[in-house]
Amino acid sequence: MALKRIRTKEEYEASYAESVKDPVGFWTAQADTFDWHQKWNTALEWDFETPNVRWFAGGKLNITENCLDRHLKKRGNKLALIWEPNDPHERFVRLTYRELHEKVCQYANVLKRNGAKKGDRICIYMPMVPELVIATLACARIGAIHSVVFAGFSAQSIADRIQDAQCSMVLTSDGLNRGHKQIPVKRVVDEALETCPSVLKVIVTERLGWAVNMVEDRDVWLHDELKLVDKHCAAEVMDAEDPLFILYTSGSTGKPKGVVHTCGGYMVYTDYTFRNVFQHEESDIFWCTADVGWITGHSYIIYGPLLAGATTLVFEGVPTFPDAGRFWQVIDKHGVNIFYTAPTAIRSLMAAGLDHVLAYSLDSLRVIGSVGEPINEEAWNWYKIHVGKDRCPIVDTWWQTETGGIMISSMAGVTDEKPSHAAWPMPGIQPVLLTADGKEILENEQEGLLCVKFPWPGMLRTTYGDHERCRQTYFSSYKGYYFTGDGARRDADGRYRIIGRVDDVINVSGHRFGTAEIENAINQAKGVVESAVVGYPHDIKGQGIYAYVVCEKPIPTDDKAAIENMRGEILEAVVASIGRIAKPDKIQFVTGLPKTRSGKIMRRILRKVAEGETSNLGDTTTLLDPAIVDEIKEGKL
Ligand code: PRX
Repeated sequence: MALKRIRTKEEYEASYAESVKDPVGFWTAQADTFDWHQKWNTALEWDFETPNVRWFAGGKLNITENCLDRHLKKRGNKLALIWEPNDPHERFVRLTYRELHEKVCQYANVLKRNGAKKGDRICIYMPMVPELVIATLACARIGAIHSVVFAGFSAQSIADRIQDAQCSMVLTSDGLNRGHKQIPVKRVVDEALETCPSVLKVIVTERLGWAVNMVEDRDVWLHDELKLVDKHCAAEVMDAEDPLFILYTSGSTGKPKGVVHTCGGYMVYTDYTFRNVFQHEESDIFWCTADVGWITGHSYIIYGPLLAGATTLVFEGVPTFPDAGRFWQVIDKHGVNIFYTAPTAIRSLMAAGLDHVLAYSLDSLRVIGSVGEPINEEAWNWYKIHVGKDRCPIVDTWWQTETGGIMISSMAGVTDEKPSHAAWPMPGIQPVLLTADGKEILENEQEGLLCVKFPWPGMLRTTYGDHERCRQTYFSSYKGYYFTGDGARRDADGRYRIIGRVDDVINVSGHRFGTAEIENAINQAKGVVESAVVGYPHDIKGQGIYAYVVCEKPIPTDDKAAIENMRGEILEAVVASIGRIAKPDKIQFVTGLPKTRSGKIMRRILRKVAEGETSNLGDTTTLLDPAIVDEIKEGKL
């Protein structure tokens, strides 16, 4: 029996109706198509109060057996993974399902040899090399919980995440290539580990061939370890509700939280959405340009494609190296059929000029996709015409780290598409729009807060070590609903258009940051008293980061040297505390922030000024010091 594949609009509609009428029947039929050691006792248990969501509990499985072992008979010699390096002149790597299976088993044995076991948390901080995919699957093979940290985060960020999950091991590399740059990854890990006593072992993959500091009894080279292990490794039998991974993501308050996904539901959901949204065919080459450090990489570079027996392309580089034609060159080189990228990449390549695209045929492309942030109509049209050659359907996929997989999207060529609209909910997904006071908006052509009213298998189960935070963040604003933090609009026919975050989260180039998180980082800079951060529209990044900063000694607006100096201090503090990706685009020095009498910063005003809308700031009479608004307006960057 195969997983349900929808091929027509009528089938979509019928499946959707069935999934709402009988969600449990719908998802158990999908779950039945996987290899289980033992079927579940209860298909679904749930309440959104606690919250408690359990899918297929009592079911026994290992996700890697479904990603690898079950394909060996039919697809053993089929390509599972193509790796394209940063430098186009370096040799690419291809691994068949049989080879990938063997490598995962070997790596799993290396983990075991070094003391890892089921339930341990293992931090992975690595570049986009095949060993990253292998390491991730190796953790899953032995039942260890992986926590992949994007290799652009700072030592401080790694340390925070390792401490939160009490990881016992780190999997890393000597260094990494990113465009023209080479970055000393191991050195960053060493710095992080100064404050992480829980880490007992570090396994290092050689990528650059650099001499690195190896701590005795703690650090080992992967290539040495591989010589000592067997190539067979029986998969650990997991409960469907055992955690598979933790992935940290930013929210509107405090430090990033560890979103927890479990084995069974996540497996069913990523496979189902992968096959149906992209309309994957057996011979397709699929390329998702995300980094495995984000949820998109987890679900649509590793798990979704491998569960479906697809060929997944892993790219080490960046879209603009050696030039802005790199994506298109890779598509032609490997005959990519399905291409999945982010609006920010599309916009930056659009700005680089058409010549880079026109130099390649892109004939192999059949489906193109977008994820991570709203895609504006101009970018959508450019993508459609110049990349998709007006013949490939575009899937604009809306989802989140917390949702595990795609929630709202058209299905390529099956359900219709509309620029800037994610469009249709997946079968099994029951989105609703709520008013600010929590009433369901039933009519179309309305805007509201996007919530989901019934559980789906891929949803988060908790936030690691702090279930109350999970409840408060997602389930307490509106009783009985999962609250996404996004605002959305339904058009006359019922298609959804995502408007953007309604909370204090900024989406920069598809990466999420809490304003508080960036403010905390800025406040670490010497001489800073306080700061307030807001997002503003940015042509390439979608949203840019605009910081208002109050310093101990006011900086005169005409003192360029002092401004530059302080800017440098602030950027350094942000890079040290979060990483380069969170650097503010604009920093305005102010003598105070607009606050209410109770001390609350009125971000609405700051947002408007940053957006360039200074004429209509609304009521400012409740401010402690209304004069500050004039100063802020005058100094706008
Ligand atoms: O605001 C939405 C935006 O990205 C947020 C989720 O970010 P993250 O957990 O990092 O996951 C990104 C990749 C799945 C959402 O709350 N977002 C994601 N996809 C879209 C989007 N906004 C508009 N359209 C999308 N297709």
